[in-house]
Amino acid sequence: KHVLLLNGPNLNMLGRRQPEIYGAETLADIVARCTLRASDLGFTLEARQSNYEGELVTWIQDAREKADAIIINPGAYSHTSVAILDALSMFEGRVMEVHLSNIHKREAFRHHSYVSARADAVIAGCGAEGYELALLRLATLLG
Ligand code: DQA
Repeated sequence: KHVLLLNGPNLNMLGRRQPEIYGAETLADIVARCTLRASDLGFTLEARQSNYEGELVTWIQDAREKADAIIINPGAYSHTSVAILDALSMFEGRVMEVHLSNIHKREAFRHHSYVSARADAVIAGCGAEGYELALLRLATLLG
């Protein structure tokens, strides 16, 4: 099974970006840990990050042909992007939404995520481990 791991805007800055909220690990560290975990579970993993909404939309469209599941941290687009929700709604595989921080404990404008209306599961507040928890859940769902 093939899993696409998508990270949205500003997540390329992890490690340097408000580490008290988002943790000390870089995105490269997180991708490395997910790649290991994915191969343990028998998945292939492709990881991409973009600061551009339209690029994320295009990657989600392309995933229709090749991925069994998408793990996505849409970053701030979670709270604004109907376009990302619409793209995910065309995708027929599993969708796992991950947030490093617990968005419900933070400012009110972070409490709503458009993506959650399509996600099979939402993991928030588990830090980088949240991505691995999403992979574990996919092992159950796709297994
Ligand atoms: C985030 C939470 C969002 O509110 C924020 O805009 C991000 C990261 C998280 O992983 O906790 O960029 O998705």
